[in-house]
Amino acid sequence: MLRIAHSLENQLRDAMQRAFPEAAAAGQAFDPQLAPASKPEFGDFQANGALPLAKPLGQPPRKIAEAVVEQLKADAAFMALCQEPQIAGPGFINITLQPERLAAEVQQRLGDPRLGVPAVEQAAPVVVDFSSPNIAKEMHVGHLRSTIIGDSLARVLEFRGHPVLRLNHVGDWGTQFGMLITHLKQVAPEALETADAVDLGDLVAFYREAKKRFDEDEAFQTTSREEVVKLQGGDPVSLKAWGLLCDQSRREFQKIYDRLDIRLSERGESFYNPYLEGVVRDLEATGLLVVDDGAGCVFLEGVSGKDGKPLPVIVQKSDGGFNYATTDLAAIRYRFGSAPDGDGARRVVYVTDAGQANHFAGVFQVARRAGWLPEGARLEHVPFGLVQGEDGKKLKTRAGDTVRLRDLLDEAVERSEADLRRRLEEEDRSEDEPFIEHVATTVGLAAVKYADLSQNRITNYQFSFDRMLALQGNTAPYLLYAVVRIAGIARKGGDLDAAATGALQFSEPQEWALVRELLKFDAVVAEVEEELLPNRLCTYLFELSQVFNRFYDQVPVLKAEPDALPSRLALCRLTADTLKLGLGLLGIPTLDRM
Ligand code: ARG
Repeated sequence: MLRIAHSLENQLRDAMQRAFPEAAAAGQAFDPQLAPASKPEFGDFQANGALPLAKPLGQPPRKIAEAVVEQLKADAAFMALCQEPQIAGPGFINITLQPERLAAEVQQRLGDPRLGVPAVEQAAPVVVDFSSPNIAKEMHVGHLRSTIIGDSLARVLEFRGHPVLRLNHVGDWGTQFGMLITHLKQVAPEALETADAVDLGDLVAFYREAKKRFDEDEAFQTTSREEVVKLQGGDPVSLKAWGLLCDQSRREFQKIYDRLDIRLSERGESFYNPYLEGVVRDLEATGLLVVDDGAGCVFLEGVSGKDGKPLPVIVQKSDGGFNYATTDLAAIRYRFGSAPDGDGARRVVYVTDAGQANHFAGVFQVARRAGWLPEGARLEHVPFGLVQGEDGKKLKTRAGDTVRLRDLLDEAVERSEADLRRRLEEEDRSEDEPFIEHVATTVGLAAVKYADLSQNRITNYQFSFDRMLALQGNTAPYLLYAVVRIAGIARKGGDLDAAATGALQFSEPQEWALVRELLKFDAVVAEVEEELLPNRLCTYLFELSQVFNRFYDQVPVLKAEPDALPSRLALCRLTADTLKLGLGLLGIPTLDRM
C-alpha cells in the first residue's frame, strides 16, 4: 500500500496499469511496481516495473521506461494528477504528484469529519475478544495490555463502519469455583450468601488459600470436585454463590474499565455451556474426534510434539468434563454461526499474550476442519509480548508482589501531577485545582495507554513511568502538546476555519512536507484495520507531530503574509483534527491546554 490518500492512489494505479499496452500484446502483464520514492528529491513515488520486463521483451529497461513515460504523458488523467515523469538509473520512473492536486485533497478533508477515511458499506459483524480477566483473580498487566490494544482495534474497526462486538470472555467457569466455594463455606460463608461481604482483594487471597489446600489436601480435593459437579448440575445454592463471586469481581473490573473509558460486553465462558455438547457432536459427525486414553481429542495436522506424534486438542477430558479449549471451540462456532444461536460474524480477533498462540492455532485449525467458518471468514489471534519492569524482568512491585492495576494507574496520575506542578512553577503559571486534576489524569492515563500501543505489540515491552511521561519523544505528552500548540494559535486570534473556502496555496517546503504527511492518514487507518497493529497509527501520529512542529517553528503562521495566512491556518486545523481523530482511535482524549 502506498501511503497516500486513497483517491489519489487509485487514480495513479489505474493510469500506470494502462501505461504499457505493448506488454499485454507481448503476452506479459505490466505490473508498475509502485513504491514510495526512496528520497524526497526523487518525487513521491517510483515505478520499477520496466526492469523485470527487459528480459522477456528482449529490450533494454530504459527503452521500456521511455515507452511507458510517453504513454503517461499522453494520458490526460495521469497528467492532471502528476508532473511529467522522469526516468532515473537503469529504468526507474520517478513520479511527483501535482501540487494543486495535493492542495485540493487537503481542502476536501477540511470539511470532512472522516478526514478522507471511507466507511465500509457491506458490514458484517466483527468480534473483538479482549481484556477477558478471570473471576476471583486479580486483573494483571497482561489483561491491561489486552484491554488497551483490544479497545483501540475495536475503535478503528468501528470507525470504518463495522458493527463490532466487544466481548469480554471472562474466565467465570471451571474448577477454580469448586475449590473457592468449598473453602469459603468453611472460612467465610457470608461471602456466599450476601453481596459485598468481601472485596476482590480478599477474594484473591481466599483463592490462593483454596488453591494451596487443593494441592495439598486430598479430602479437600474431593469435596471441591463434588462442588464443581453441583455447580455444573445447576444446584441453586452453588449457583447463587457463584453469582455473588462473579458480581464481586465484575465490580472491580468495571472500575478499571470506567477509568480507562473502555466499553465491553461481558460474555464469559459460562455462556457457552449449553453449546459444549454441540461441539462434541459436530466433531464426531465430521470424524475428527478420536478417543485417546479415554479423552476426546482432535489430532492437529502439521503440529507434532517432541516424540514426533501429532499433538491433540483435548475436547473432552476422560472424566467427561470440558476445558478452556472446548469453550473456545464453542465460542468460535457460536460467533460465526447465524442467529438466534450465533453472531453471524465474518471476522473474529482475539487479543491475548503470545503465550496463548499455540492454544489459538490449535482451536482455529479444529474449527476450520470442522467447517464452522463461512467462506471468506477471518479468524485471527492478535498476540502481544510481556510487560517487563525496567530491569527487563517480569513487572513487580518493590516488595516483589504483582502490580495491581489500580495502583499502577494511580501512580501514573500522581507522577503526571507532580510533573505538571513542577512545570507550572518553572513557567510561573498559576492554575486552579480542577484544571490540574483534569490535566494530570488525562495525561497520566494517556501515557499508560500510549506507551503500550506505540510498541510493536509482538515484542516484550519495558514499563517505565519516566519514559512514558516525557514531553519529548514518541510519547502521549508529546502528541498532546502538539494539539495544545494548535489550540493556542486559535486562542491567540488565529481563525482556524478561515480557509474552509477558497483555494489553498503553499510555497514553503515545510508546508508541502506537512501536506504530504496529512494525506497519509486514511492509508494508515486502512493498514491498522488490516494488520491489527495500532503502533502503526502511533508512529504516524508521532511523525505528523514532528513535521508539524518543524513547520510551526520554521514558518510564520500568525505573522504570515495575508495571502499565505489562511492556507497555513488550514494546515494547523487539519493537523489538529487528524491528531484528535487519530488519538481518539487509540482511546486517548486530547486537551486544549496542559
Ligand atoms: N481468561 C483468559 C486469560 O486470562 C483470556 C481469555 C481470552 N479469550 C479467549 N477466548 N480465550 O488468560
